[in-house]
Amino acid sequence: MNILLLGSGGREHALAWKIAASPLVTNFWCAPGNAGIAHDAECVGLDVADHGAVIAFCKTNAVDLVVVGPEAPLAAGIVDDLAAAGIKAFGPTKAAARLESSKGFTKDLCREGGIPTAAYERFSDADQAKAYIRAQGAPIVVKADGLAAGKGVVVAASVAEAEAAIDMMLGGGFGAAGAEAVVEECLVGEEASFFVLCDGDDALALAAAQDHKRAFDGDEGPNTGGMGAYSPAPVMTDAMCRRTMDEIILPTLRAMKARGTPYKGVLFAGLMITAEGPKLIEYNVRFGDPETQVLMMRLKSDLVPALLAACDGQLKSFDLRWSDEAALTVVMAARGYPGDYARGSVIEGLDEAAKVEGVEIFHAGTRADGATIRANGGRVLNVTAIGESVAEAQRRAYAAVDRIRWPEGFCRRDIGWRAVAREKDSR
Ligand code: AMP
Ligand code: GLY
Repeated sequence: MNILLLGSGGREHALAWKIAASPLVTNFWCAPGNAGIAHDAECVGLDVADHGAVIAFCKTNAVDLVVVGPEAPLAAGIVDDLAAAGIKAFGPTKAAARLESSKGFTKDLCREGGIPTAAYERFSDADQAKAYIRAQGAPIVVKADGLAAGKGVVVAASVAEAEAAIDMMLGGGFGAAGAEAVVEECLVGEEASFFVLCDGDDALALAAAQDHKRAFDGDEGPNTGGMGAYSPAPVMTDAMCRRTMDEIILPTLRAMKARGTPYKGVLFAGLMITAEGPKLIEYNVRFGDPETQVLMMRLKSDLVPALLAACDGQLKSFDLRWSDEAALTVVMAARGYPGDYARGSVIEGLDEAAKVEGVEIFHAGTRADGATIRANGGRVLNVTAIGESVAEAQRRAYAAVDRIRWPEGFCRRDIGWRAVAREKDSR
């Protein structure tokens, strides 16, 4: 079959690597892709925001399946537009993508369905929001309702900080995404990313991972899209996964179906594992980045039939095989990220790095300039390894990082610290 993948990040390179390995695939394109994806797919310069152009490409090239990587095209309704043109696409419709594109929508759905999440209220009036904040006290969390490129959340340590966040958001700091804000209780516990494939009725749990959101070692510095991840997540025991399915995922699918907007695609639950059990922090309607890089390393089965089963409502009797080994990925980013950074610096040593046992290097913001690889984004490389333990995967990933010569880049040196400490304790 012919497949078109949309996106250009490390997540998409990991998906492309897995899809390209499927014996079902005849032709495989990625738009727009990156220098690494170009080894697995034919990269095409389509504007993903131009749905008409994507549809025309699919028709010309007899594309059987479109796999959508990022949230923006989903929230813009690309799956609806492709479906209307008779083209199968993996991902939720625009209405179902509201689980990510409106935090207020998701919170209300949780409240109605009894799904455990932080206590909250929704506000479009700054004075009312501030009165609520003062009544609740700090710490407290302020979120822009809409998509804000991962920057729409302020975990405020003081009432003053929370009030300032309200003024910034409701004052237009995030444009339309911040016309409404959610103010919620600050949850305490350990975070985990949990992924399930959904076909509208049924859900198939994939695997869990842990992300490292802060830019610098020791979980210091500003929040980022994610500086590294590992899977499995020790906090997500079988019992915790079961509870998450029963208390959070399945009630969500039932509620979405009852609203007439059944959810299909991958659902990414950002969880806080609290003393009372799993609570939903947020949903994303796409694969995680960099979590997908470690998930794909551990997935033994062919991904393509699973994506098709999600599209076709056939997940009920579906199963996937996972490696018992651990996978870990280290993000190499351009100096300055998540703030301003320069593009165009030269990256060397990638071939030597990829020779370290168990290592795959997934590209994010890179571009090929002849035989030279240049940085072309904030998060640039995902140096990913599999191993018998998180410690072994970590050792291999950093051995590969140390072979990469890129003075303009940086990475955290402590990815996986929590799991490695647990492994030491249990020995
Ligand atoms: P989000 O963009 O919703 O994933 O939020 C970004 C980060 O903010 C999360 O990964 C958490 O670390 C933190 N966060 C969001 N909501 C809460 C909450 N209610 N309590 C504690 N931390 C939170
Ligand atoms: N790594 C978190 C995300 O993809 O949103």
